[in-house]
Amino acid sequence: MSDRTLRSKRQSVETPKSPTKVKKVSKDEKEASSKVKKVSSAELNLYFKTYQKKGAVDFHLDVFKGVNNIVKPSRVLYPGCHRHVTASLVFNDVVYVDNYSKIKSCFIDEKVLDWVSSNKEYKEKAEIKFIGKNFESDFGEKVESFDLLMSLSAGIVTTSCSKYVKKLGYVLVSDAHFDARMLYLDLDFELTHVWDSERKKFDDDADALSGHFTTMDGKAITKDQVQESIDKPKAKRSFKLQKEILFYLFQKVEQR
Ligand SMILES: C[S@@+](CC[C@H](N)C(=O)[O-])C[C@H]1O[C@@H](n2cnc3c(N)ncnc32)[C@H](O)[C@@H]1O
Repeated sequence: MSDRTLRSKRQSVETPKSPTKVKKVSKDEKEASSKVKKVSSAELNLYFKTYQKKGAVDFHLDVFKGVNNIVKPSRVLYPGCHRHVTASLVFNDVVYVDNYSKIKSCFIDEKVLDWVSSNKEYKEKAEIKFIGKNFESDFGEKVESFDLLMSLSAGIVTTSCSKYVKKLGYVLVSDAHFDARMLYLDLDFELTHVWDSERKKFDDDADALSGHFTTMDGKAITKDQVQESIDKPKAKRSFKLQKEILFYLFQKVEQR
């Protein structure tokens, strides 16, 4: 993946867009849009604007389904979630954590919850809890009480939140903000699967797993190199990795 991709993932998901041209709206279009408004809400619209632009399905949905096939988690923790309620379409019990003050209203919005209910892929009621706190602080959840932790483009999440994962539980972690390479250094976790974005599936064979977090001279990435990844753009780093992808799955194991 190019560094440009990494950097674009770091940009705020609420970056204002350039103004759009005002278009004359026909009577039919007006009626159609008023029908949409009845089943929508400002919060649901904000979710769609960020995650399902122009009707495109959120690309995370396939990743979440892939994780679900492997982990089948009872409880999921999602720190740095923003309005990413897509997770509740696949996982029936999700605790969302975000300290941005405008996010809470999404997770208690009736229309958002109705939309989740109508589009979820499981029979049980969706259990959704939102905690408006810093994920680096004590936000009131028990350690080792989650089957799955998700760290997606929200900085380094795993350092403060991996303690919430049960033994043999999993972490879905993206490397957009270099949290995957950070977790790779943690001896309590082992890389078990890598996401193939073309085939839309997780791989766990030795070939697919090899070369990640490994420099061109065959050495495992170091703590200094992870810090360098955070501090410098790819072109200015003193090392290159054999393989870089976006999504990884790690399992909490006894110390390696
Ligand atoms: C770029 S968004 C990513 C959202 C989502 N995970 C995704 O992949 O689309 C990062 C989110 O993490 C939240 N965040 C960053 N640092 C945080 C912290 N220390 N505690 C709680 N939330 C945090 C921000 O408020 C923001 O909503």
